[in-house]
Amino acid sequence: MQYPVYRARRTRRNENLRRMVRETRLSPDNLIYPLFVVHGEGIRREIGSMPGVFQQSMDGIVRECRECRDLGIPAVILFGIPQSKDALASEAYDPDGCVQLAVKAIKDAVPELVVITDVCLCEYTDHGHCGIVEGDRILNDPTLELLAQSALSHARAGADIVAPSDMMDGRVAAIRDCLDEEGFHDTIIMAYAVKYASAFYGPFREAAESAPAFGDRRSYQMDPPNRLEALREAALDIEEGADVIMVKPALPYLDIIAEIRERYDMPLAAYQVSGEYAMIQAAGRLGWVDPERAMMESLISIRRAGAAMILTYFAKDAARALS
Ligand code: PBG
Repeated sequence: MQYPVYRARRTRRNENLRRMVRETRLSPDNLIYPLFVVHGEGIRREIGSMPGVFQQSMDGIVRECRECRDLGIPAVILFGIPQSKDALASEAYDPDGCVQLAVKAIKDAVPELVVITDVCLCEYTDHGHCGIVEGDRILNDPTLELLAQSALSHARAGADIVAPSDMMDGRVAAIRDCLDEEGFHDTIIMAYAVKYASAFYGPFREAAESAPAFGDRRSYQMDPPNRLEALREAALDIEEGADVIMVKPALPYLDIIAEIRERYDMPLAAYQVSGEYAMIQAAGRLGWVDPERAMMESLISIRRAGAAMILTYFAKDAARALS
C-alpha cells in the first residue's frame, strides 16, 4: 500500500470515521477498583501521594461499592489495614479482620458486585514483608500455610476471587488445595503471576502502611530486566490452578502483557499501580499533562497490549468519562 494511492489519514478525518476503524475499546466492564479498608466508623483518610484515594471504614467502603455498581464497574479489590501488626500477620486470617468484615458488609449491601481480596501478609506483619521472617530471610514454605488460611478466611466471608500478591513459590497450589478441601471449589484465584520489584509501588505502601522495615522485596518479587522469567512465572501459576493471571505494574511492562496474551489462553489482568496513578495526578496538578487524557490513553494502552481486566485507581473516573 503506497502513497498516494493509500492515504492513511483518510480514515482519521472525523470522529465517526475514527470510531469505525478503532481497534481497541475500553469499557467499565474492564475496570476493577481498589479499596483500602480500616476498622471503625466514619473514617475516610485521603492518601497524600494518591489524591482521591482514601483509607475507609466499612460504611465508606460500602458507599464506594454502590457507586461502582452504579457506574457499571463489575468488581472491587480490597486491601486491609489492620488494628495491630505482628510477626505472624494474625489479622490476615482473622475471621473478624477488616477485610473479612468488609467482604460481608459488601455482600450484604451489593451482592452482585464481584469482590476480590488481595492475599498477602505485608500489610499485617510488623516488619512489612510478605512472608515469615527469620533473621534477614523471608521464608517461603512456612509462609504458604498462612497465605492459604488468609485466602480461606476471605472465601468464608464471601469473597468471589482471592488474589495472592506475595510472590512466594507454590502459593497458588497451596491456596487451591486449601480452598478445595474446605469446599470452596468455585472461589476463583487471580494470581499476581508476574509481579516485578517496582519503584512504582511507593504510594501504595503509604496507603497500606506496608513499607518493609528492613531491606526490600527483591528476594521474592521479579527483577525488572527479565522477560523469559515472566513466562515461566505465568506457566507455573497456570499449572498450579490460577484462573486469572496478572501482570504488575502495567505501563512499564506492556511488552510482558502483550507476550503473555500471545502465549497463554487465560484471562489476563494488569495492575496500573499506585505510582502510575500518582505520576499522572502529579503532572496533572502541575499543569504539565492533561490528566484525563493521560488516564484514558494509559488505560487504552493496557487494553491494546491485551489485558481484559485493569485494576486501577482511575476506575471510577474512567467509568464516568466513558458514560
Ligand atoms: C502487597 C501488594 C502491593 C501492591 C499490591 N499488593 C505492594 C507491594 O508489593 O509492595 C501494590 C499496588 C500498588 O502499588 O498500587 N504485596
